[in-house]
Amino acid sequence: MNDVLGRLMELRKKDPFFADGRILSSVCTEPSDVSLEAYRIFSDVNVLDRYVFPNSGELEMDVIKWFSSILGKKNLSGYVTSGGTEANIQALWAAKKKYPGRREILVPESAHYSLDKAADLLELEIKWIPLDEKFKADVASIQEGISDETLAVVLTAGTSALGVVDPITEVNGLCGDVFFHVDAAFAGMVLPFLENSERIDFGLVNIDSLTIDPHKMGYTPIPSGCILFRDESYMKRLRFKPSYLEEPLPTLTGSRSAGFIAAVWANLMFYGVEGFRSKVWECMENTRFLLSLLEGVEGVEPVIEPEINFVALTSDSMPQVYGLLLERGWALSLDRETNSIRIVVMPHVSREVLEDFVGDLRECMNSIP
Ligand SMILES: Cc1ncc(COP(=O)(O)O)c(C=O)c1O
Repeated sequence: MNDVLGRLMELRKKDPFFADGRILSSVCTEPSDVSLEAYRIFSDVNVLDRYVFPNSGELEMDVIKWFSSILGKKNLSGYVTSGGTEANIQALWAAKKKYPGRREILVPESAHYSLDKAADLLELEIKWIPLDEKFKADVASIQEGISDETLAVVLTAGTSALGVVDPITEVNGLCGDVFFHVDAAFAGMVLPFLENSERIDFGLVNIDSLTIDPHKMGYTPIPSGCILFRDESYMKRLRFKPSYLEEPLPTLTGSRSAGFIAAVWANLMFYGVEGFRSKVWECMENTRFLLSLLEGVEGVEPVIEPEINFVALTSDSMPQVYGLLLERGWALSLDRETNSIRIVVMPHVSREVLEDFVGDLRECMNSIP
């Protein structure tokens, strides 16, 4: 066994570790010890097999209750998914089941590409919504776009390229009986802990469904996402019953590891609301620290004023600078549409790392003629 594990470790060491701090564009972070241990304890349990493991479902119910409590409405329904992609697909599938005669979905140009996948799979037609000058979904275009054909409106809380939070409260007033889905895969575990932020609150906003990914700002191992619905009627429409099982099941995948459910449960219980709030605040303070350091770097500017722990930096020479930063060992990604690199100020990104990064950024900028 040692040989096998040794070979794996050799391979693993060729890639960077979050603990090194130089991974700046990832929306994930190092899973907590408690979540890894929780995963190990439940790793042999398949939630699908309720007749063998009747108790693991309780953990999942606790997870949904916990999210209900931070999202403003008791008794949301939902389940732990493999991530944001599955959650977005399930949301639109539920929408289609609710309104089988409608096919059109309004999706901002900044939405995650899982929405394209969902539309393709479910044979829905995307009407693209342009962005306003702050890179948010344009409210007037949504208003104009809604018609009798509209199945759903989708907004994002924390877009993948820039970290933008779409105008959820404003659009809420426009949706009427149109299905309203919010993809809060990233910011779902950020916004509830911030003051004066856009609210993703089922009590205040008429959201039908919401995607939230613990494997991003919830520091659980991948894959662990979550889909939440306003009430149980949505999941009921997604149920299929195998002849050899007692109950119909609403999940997209069949077998599901209770390990990941236990991992999410463990972090929610271990950190609690206050633990998550203080980590989000720390990330936001580090975000502001990064912005203050950037003031001393000529020729680079944030694309938008960050609302969450996400800074997108642009410059005319960004493609070349990006190449130079990669050569210096920084793990970054370049958004070709806005010519920007994203710095996601995750819990593993310390102030020391940010200082080193901005030092390298300045040198790289200065080296471009
Ligand atoms: C806004 C948003 N939605 C959906 C997803 C897809 O999540 P996953 O990769 O967990 O399927 C991501 C991933 O980064 C995301 O940022």
